Amino acid sequence: EGDILSKLPLKNKKVLITAGPTYETIDPVRFIGNHSSGKMGFELAEVAASLGAEVFLVTGPTHLEISHSLIKIFRVISAEEMYNEVHQHYKNSDIAILSAAVADYRPKNVAKNKIKKEKASLTIELEPTKDILASLGQIKEHQYLVGFALETNNEENNAKQKLANKNLDAIVLNSLNDEGAGFGKSTNKITFIDKDLNIKAFKLKSKAEVAHDIFNEIIHKINA
Ligand code: CTP
Ligand code: CA
Repeated sequence: EGDILSKLPLKNKKVLITAGPTYETIDPVRFIGNHSSGKMGFELAEVAASLGAEVFLVTGPTHLEISHSLIKIFRVISAEEMYNEVHQHYKNSDIAILSAAVADYRPKNVAKNKIKKEKASLTIELEPTKDILASLGQIKEHQYLVGFALETNNEENNAKQKLANKNLDAIVLNSLNDEGAGFGKSTNKITFIDKDLNIKAFKLKSKAEVAHDIFNEIIHKINA
C-alpha cells in the first residue's frame, strides 16, 4: 500500500481549520476565555500544507505564529467573529476541521465601562454563542466535516452524539483524562470516530504526530 502521506495527497484541496480559544468580552478590560493554546489546530495546518493543501486557518487569541506559503491565517477574538470568518471560507473548502475551543456562552450585555468592585457579589448573565460546527453541518455539501469533542466522562457516547447531532463526517475525541493530553500540552491522545461509527484509538503522541494521524484517516476516508 505504501505511505500515502509521502506523496502530496491534498494538492488542489482547500482545508479550513479553526484553532485556539475565543475570548468573550465582559467589560473593556475583562473577558471569558479558556486554556486552549491553539497548538493542535496549528499542527493540523502545518500538516495539511505539507500535504499540498491550501489552508485557511481561523484562530482565536494565541501567541503561536505560522509561516507557510500555502497557509493563510485569520486572527479573530470572539465566537461571533470566528463564526463570520469561518463562513467566508466554508463553501469553497473540501475539508473542514474545527479544533477551536469556542466559548459556549458570552455575557449578554457588555459593560461600557470597567465594572467596579462595589458590590458584595457579582452576577453576569450569559447567553449562548452560535455553534459554528453545527452551523456548517446544516449547510454541508461536498465538504468532509470534522469536529473535535473534548470530554471528561462518558467520552465515546458523548462524541458519537456530537457526530450525529452536528451532521459530521468524523469526530476526534480528545481525552482530558489522560496525563499529558490536552490543553497547553504538546501531546495528545485521540480516538477517531467516523460517521459509520468505525472507531480507531491512538496512543499518546506529540500533537504533530496526532495531526498526521488525523489527516491519514481523513485521506483514507475521502479516497475510499
Ligand atoms: N464548536 C463550535 N462552536 C461552538 C462550540 C463548539 O464550532 N460554539 C465545535 C468545537 O470546535 C468542536 C465541537 O464543536 O469541534 C465540539 O465542541 P465541544 O465543546 O466538545 O462540544 P459542545 O458541542 O460545545 O458541547 P459541550 O461543551 O456541552 O460538551
Ligand atoms: Ca463546548
